[in-house]
Amino acid sequence: MIKRILLIVLSALLLIIAGFVIYISTAWDKKYELPYPDLTASTDSAVIERGRYLVHGPAHCSSCHVSSIKELVLSDQGANVPLKGGVLFPMGPLGVISPANLTPDETTGIGRYTDGQLFRMMRHAVKPDGTATISLMMPFWNMADDDLVAIVSYLRSMDPVFNEVPAPKWTFMGKAVRVMAPTFKPVYDAEPPDMAPPMEPTVERGEYLARYVTNCVGCHTERDPMTFEATGPEFAGGMEFEPYPELHVELGYDADLWTRSPNITPHPGSALSRFPTVEDWISRFRNGRVIMISPMDWGPFSRMSDQDLEALYLYLHSLAPVAREDGLVMFKKE
Ligand code: HEC
Ligand code: HEC
Repeated sequence: MIKRILLIVLSALLLIIAGFVIYISTAWDKKYELPYPDLTASTDSAVIERGRYLVHGPAHCSSCHVSSIKELVLSDQGANVPLKGGVLFPMGPLGVISPANLTPDETTGIGRYTDGQLFRMMRHAVKPDGTATISLMMPFWNMADDDLVAIVSYLRSMDPVFNEVPAPKWTFMGKAVRVMAPTFKPVYDAEPPDMAPPMEPTVERGEYLARYVTNCVGCHTERDPMTFEATGPEFAGGMEFEPYPELHVELGYDADLWTRSPNITPHPGSALSRFPTVEDWISRFRNGRVIMISPMDWGPFSRMSDQDLEALYLYLHSLAPVAREDGLVMFKKE
């Protein structure tokens, strides 16, 4: 009797597991039908210039869309590295992904895509092929129409470079997370303004940048290491960044060093509180990277305008202070 019950329970369990495996392996690369935003790239030189500022500054596309570890370092330092994509980003147990070729090459770059496909990617986190991407990594859904147009216009004006980028490789766990976690789904409820707040030192401009352009909120919030869902208060720090061994070794650091983002709310003792004046803040950013292996995009941010840096300072000071100890910025796990 007991044997029979056990057998039934076991078969049921196996059936559930098999069902789950089949479900994940068919649903992980689901294609989404979301509307193409009604926007078009421009060839106006002022628009292209604005796009150049965003791509190499606050929106930091140049931090990721390069082809090697060496280029990551050079691009951060401000070298004019073509945005031809292809460097491998290890995602721990989830798999490996590669930033795309953003040059206008017609077979391997964005020359293949319509404006609609590119704008949809940025506004809804749906790739040109219809699959979902990780919105938190490119959190541009509420970027204003005029900024989106500026960015795509600039990308279209770059020199085309032929470079085949490896397709993403998701492990079974990565596929399961893609199917289950909301952070890996398209963004349906974008509510972007038509025009970006003007580049002036205002709280409004600072909030716009911090959330939808520079992504301070993406990194300076404690998150689940697997799904990137927020597990702590916004801007209070505590997100842990897995080591990127190839980069660490290239830079002469231990390959197993983790980093952690600090609290940037206006609480006594927070990282923000270390900058008593806006001049101190701006000069910290102009100084750029101090911790070489930091995942923060210090290079592009060091090239932001004084107005934008001041806007961020004002916005962060307008937040409710959160008492949260940072712990070590660099650390090893047992
Ligand atoms: C933190 C790193 C990072 C930043 C910053 C970043 N990207 Fe990406 N981008 C990636 C990765 C990784 C992929 C591949 C994603 C995937 O496979 O799901 C990608 C994919 C894309 C794609 C899809 C192209 C295709 O062929 O599927 C476009 C378009 C794109 N990025 C544009 C941009 C633009 C424009 C910016 C700046 C405004 C930007 N990205 C900033 C990492 C980044
Ligand atoms: C890709 C993740 C990431 C992004 C995006 C990011 N940060 Fe950071 N930030 C970190 C990490 C990790 C550290 C700790 C290592 C370091 O100091 O570079 C850090 C450190 C800091 C520090 C302390 C620096 C010091 O020397 O005391 C400040 C201030 C800061 N970030 C502000 C910001 C602001 C403002 C933004 C948005 C404009 C931002 N960060 C965007 C990850 C990030």
